[in-house]
Amino acid sequence: MIQITFVFLLISFSRAVFVEYRYESPKSCEHLTVPTATAYKSLTVDWMLDCVRQCSHDSSCLSATFDGSQTCFLFSDDQRNCSEPKYNHVFFVVEFAPVAMMLGSDGTSTVTAPTCLNNGTLDPVSATCQCYKGYIGDNCHRIMMDCTEGFYSGHYNNHYNGLYLIKPTAASEPFQVQCNMKDFGGGTFFMMNSQYAVNPSLTRNLDWNKYKDGFGEILVNSANWIGVEKIHSITSSRPHHLFVEAMDNIKWERRWRKYEHFKVEDESTNYRMTYSGSFPWTQTEASADPGWTKAIASTPLGDSMIGLNGSAFSTFDRDNDLDAARNCAREYQGGWWYNACADCNPNGQIKTSGNASSINELYWETDTINSHVVHIQMMLIAN
Ligand SMILES: *[C@@H]1O[C@H](CO)[C@@H](O)[C@H](O)[C@H]1NC(C)=O
Ligand SMILES: *[C@@H]1O[C@H](CO)[C@@H](O)[C@H](O)[C@H]1NC(C)=O
Ligand SMILES: *[C@@H]1O[C@H](CO)[C@@H](O)[C@H](O)[C@H]1NC(C)=O
Ligand SMILES: *[C@@H]1O[C@H](CO)[C@@H](O)[C@H](O)[C@H]1NC(C)=O
Repeated sequence: MIQITFVFLLISFSRAVFVEYRYESPKSCEHLTVPTATAYKSLTVDWMLDCVRQCSHDSSCLSATFDGSQTCFLFSDDQRNCSEPKYNHVFFVVEFAPVAMMLGSDGTSTVTAPTCLNNGTLDPVSATCQCYKGYIGDNCHRIMMDCTEGFYSGHYNNHYNGLYLIKPTAASEPFQVQCNMKDFGGGTFFMMNSQYAVNPSLTRNLDWNKYKDGFGEILVNSANWIGVEKIHSITSSRPHHLFVEAMDNIKWERRWRKYEHFKVEDESTNYRMTYSGSFPWTQTEASADPGWTKAIASTPLGDSMIGLNGSAFSTFDRDNDLDAARNCAREYQGGWWYNACADCNPNGQIKTSGNASSINELYWETDTINSHVVHIQMMLIAN
């Protein structure tokens, strides 16, 4: 009896040296029953690739069968038996040993698929790796240097805000950041102070070492500051622009401003900060920039960093501002590149009622006349 059934062999994604597939007619097939009752797990998936991925990410899984409808069966043994005809052609086997990859029902073309390291998964259609959590490259063998590199690597297309590892060339170790991989051409977020954060009342009146190393959790929608040492390593590895997003409680829209060539020098300069120019950022500018597909505000954010170019970083215990008579960080109750002092206080306290008047408040001067800034977030995009 000849069964017109295809067998699709998959050799392990993450455990073997090569990842390969065999797609053939099961002429050697003697047993025509997929023992789905012996599957240790069944899952609903959309198509066979999802079934492969489920298996490859589960260390107990050695083979999987997709029934051609929506059910994926995972087996803890190396199933060699063929699919029943009703199971619509697809049967995967995950193995440890490399085998040539043959695509097409004639079984003739042979392709060696790349090894996908660091939890990357192979896309069996394109025979390329889809990397995971900040790894990039053909084999997912290295960590991206910033979120922008990840965005343009093609591995993270259409991913939303998420946590990734980056390794700027100037950093000694990789570290975790939140990236925007969708709207903003790969933004590396470095701070958030927001009424909408999960922890809006995070204490920000902190000392030099806290501002140097970072505080708050690096999680999506978490108030935080990644640390000025990390901002230094990102901006000194290659040129970045700074994007400031703010929202006040009168206009209630996210508004943007761009600071080109934003750079923070090392600790020996007290993290001196420079930028080359400040530009409004609106829907019109956004649509002219291929990295940006979505900017919300019709009116841009004003420039409230006037006078800060070239400033050193200050905290209450390290007064590097240019007003000898004052300690700006102590008055403003946050760390920042104060001059004498500043038209903004991104690490100030969130206030939501009364006039914007107190100096320790979160504010962005040009936008806080009789209103309060209730959200500010900053990110770096490589140019
Ligand atoms: C294949 O199926 C037959 C009949 O169900 C069974 O006896 C045999 O053990 C199976 N082989 C494997 C490798 O699972
Ligand atoms: C890959 O996944 C395993 C299991 O979830 C995890 O322990 C490991 O840390 C991951 N490796 C990387 C490089 O993310
Ligand atoms: C900021 O300072 C740097 C270095 O002194 C200078 O090159 C740059 O043009 C300045 N930026 C602005 C906006 O003036
Ligand atoms: C807020 O400012 C406006 C305009 O300057 C003023 O009329 C009003 O009295 C102030 N309100 C409070 C609570 O200070």
